[in-house]
Amino acid sequence: MNKRFLTILIVALTGMLFLSVAALTFAAKQDVPDEITLQNKGYKKDKKGPVKLTHKKHSVEFKIACVDCHHVYKDGKNVWKEGDHVDKCSKCHPVLWEKGKKKKKGEAMKLQNAYHKNCKNCHKALAKENKPTGPFKKCNKCHEKKKK
Ligand code: HEC
Ligand code: HEC
Ligand code: HEC
Ligand code: HEC
Repeated sequence: MNKRFLTILIVALTGMLFLSVAALTFAAKQDVPDEITLQNKGYKKDKKGPVKLTHKKHSVEFKIACVDCHHVYKDGKNVWKEGDHVDKCSKCHPVLWEKGKKKKKGEAMKLQNAYHKNCKNCHKALAKENKPTGPFKKCNKCHEKKKK
């Protein structure tokens, strides 16, 4: 083998090694955060303050399944499972909704409604069953006071 060819081969292989390490690091498991502050940008009017979600507590202490909050729908079925990548809710649920536009079947509702439906409906349903639950009436039990 010619020396020059060997050098090129080594350089190419080293490059490929770096690329695969980078790809693996990028695909590494996402952290599952203990607490999340929900504060999306782009709302028409940002009327309310941010909302803190005790993420870990909800799954560990309150025993809420990941799939009660996370989903990827395929043919109307939730195919998301623990360990899969989690996208921000806003990736699919639009922050802004065209005035007068009707939601089609299978389409993701607007972001604010998606959060409220997810969080409040669960809390409300549990309250009806007289089980320990979270807030659904008092806005400021979820929303922090807005800093002026
Ligand atoms: C169970 C928790 C919870 C309760 C109770 C709740 N919200 Fe929210 N709300 C959220 C979450 C989570 C978001 C998303 C926050 C974000 O993206 O900034 C949100 C977003 C909003 C937004 C859009 C973002 C903004 O700041 O303008 C408005 C408006 C809003 N809520 C109004 C209300 C009002 C009014 C009440 C009381 C009647 C209320 N919410 C009660 C959880 C809650
Ligand atoms: C009570 C609802 C709820 C439960 C239960 C829940 N999550 Fe989440 N999770 C959320 C919300 C809300 C976000 C933030 C989404 C956003 O920013 O739009 C989030 C974010 C995440 C993220 C992304 C963090 C990042 O870096 O962006 C991961 C990963 C995740 N959750 C994994 C899990 C796993 C695994 C479980 C079960 C053990 C779980 N979640 C249970 C509501 C929940
Ligand atoms: C990958 C895209 C995607 C992501 C990410 C996503 N959603 Fe959805 N979501 C959808 C679609 C599509 C529907 C409508 C499904 C249907 O009607 O069959 C939906 C429906 C919903 C519904 C109504 C159905 C139900 O389960 O009660 C709620 C509430 C909801 N999403 C909340 C959330 C929240 C909260 C997050 C973030 C933690 C989130 N979604 C992240 C695509 C997504
Ligand atoms: C499927 C059910 C379910 C969903 C979805 C859910 N919660 Fe809760 N949440 C609970 C339960 C159960 C408790 C309280 C249990 C207890 O006190 O033992 C709770 C408690 C809370 C509390 C008070 C205690 C604390 O840890 O701060 C807040 C605030 C709260 N939830 C916010 C949210 C927000 C914000 C969302 C949506 C992003 C959400 N929850 C979604 C079931 C749910």
